[in-house]
Amino acid sequence: MENSIDIDRQKIDEIIERYKGSPESLLMIMQDISDVYNYLPKEAISILTEKMSIRESLIYSVATFYKTISLEPRGKFIVSVCTGTACHVRGAEKIVDALQEDLGIKEGQTTDDSLFTLEAVRCIGCCASGPVITVNKEIHGGLDRYSAVKVVDGYRGHAS
Ligand code: FES
Repeated sequence: MENSIDIDRQKIDEIIERYKGSPESLLMIMQDISDVYNYLPKEAISILTEKMSIRESLIYSVATFYKTISLEPRGKFIVSVCTGTACHVRGAEKIVDALQEDLGIKEGQTTDDSLFTLEAVRCIGCCASGPVITVNKEIHGGLDRYSAVKVVDGYRGHAS
């Protein structure tokens, strides 16, 4: 079941206006909304169909094609562990294991408090700093299983 979140209609209207409601900008509009909520909420989809006169199926096709946009609720903090080759040989799997244990979720899942989503990603281009994780867009490198847990736990303080 989808967790209920507060949707700020005005914010979504502003994003649509930023692109003048142009259907050619649908992907960017969806991406900007997703940057606010870390996924594309159902309520936002209704607003898009209504204001842009487009079909819901188009939104689902775009979201399916561009995997950066999730239709499932995700956490406030997206914890992405790089499991590319360079990070893998430096112990990325141990970091995944440690974070799964610390957060009490498996990779691909979101904590019950909707704070963290854990995912494994391919190389993010900072191989020299590996193993690397990102939390939303912030990069943390040179980690081991203990420091990775500490980094992620540090975000609890930014929860509100
Ligand atoms: S393999 Fe992890 S940043 Fe390149």
